[in-house]
Amino acid sequence: MNGKLQIIPTILATTEKEYKSKLQEIENTPEFEGGWVQIDLMDNKFVQNTSITPEVIARYPTSLKKEAHLMVEYPESWIDELVNLKVERIIFPLEDKEGITERVTHIKNHGLEVGLALNPETPVAKLEPYIGTIDLVLILSVHPGFGGQKFLPGVLPKIKEAAALKERGRFLIEVDGGINKEVAGRAAAEGADILVVGSHLFDGNVSENLEKIWQAVFAGKSSGH
Ligand code: DX5
Repeated sequence: MNGKLQIIPTILATTEKEYKSKLQEIENTPEFEGGWVQIDLMDNKFVQNTSITPEVIARYPTSLKKEAHLMVEYPESWIDELVNLKVERIIFPLEDKEGITERVTHIKNHGLEVGLALNPETPVAKLEPYIGTIDLVLILSVHPGFGGQKFLPGVLPKIKEAAALKERGRFLIEVDGGINKEVAGRAAAEGADILVVGSHLFDGNVSENLEKIWQAVFAGKSSGH
């Protein structure tokens, strides 16, 4: 599945006001029209932070395709509500204790795409049993739960390792956490299909920040590193 690289925005919001403001900024950015938005959901258990809830998402309908990134201890209890919100992709932690296969099946049975997220310290090899069933692997390049953290370069080999597994499964590789113009080119060169950007988009003019990241991707590809 060698499609074009995508750069998608992520909303990590702890208040409804923050969610509304970030969604409006994204919707006012023509480059994102018709594309995806990642929405972070946190339960203050799997990560030490609490986000807005699905009820808030319901209050702000959008034509953007929604991807829910669950950083929660019990993903099962969130799935049906997200299906009702017309979320198109649900990503939950590979570190989920409830049982991955049942969760993947439940999400796919609703016709949604399903992704597994790996914390920085989780080896790519743990994906093995699920390679043939998932649509996306999210390589977290920060410890999840907060925006504005520094990219962890130690995850770069994990992107390459996940890309090598593509021979056995048709899934996208998404990289999320600390993505900015300094690291975007390297993450793309290692094999990312999707780069997820939060704070480095919203800190200033979104279109200008997005353009700088695209320029870095093209520079990274042309320098071949
Ligand atoms: C991990 C979240 C990321 C994070 C990325 O905490 O899944 O989406 O908010 O935000 P930035 O781009 O600010 O690191």
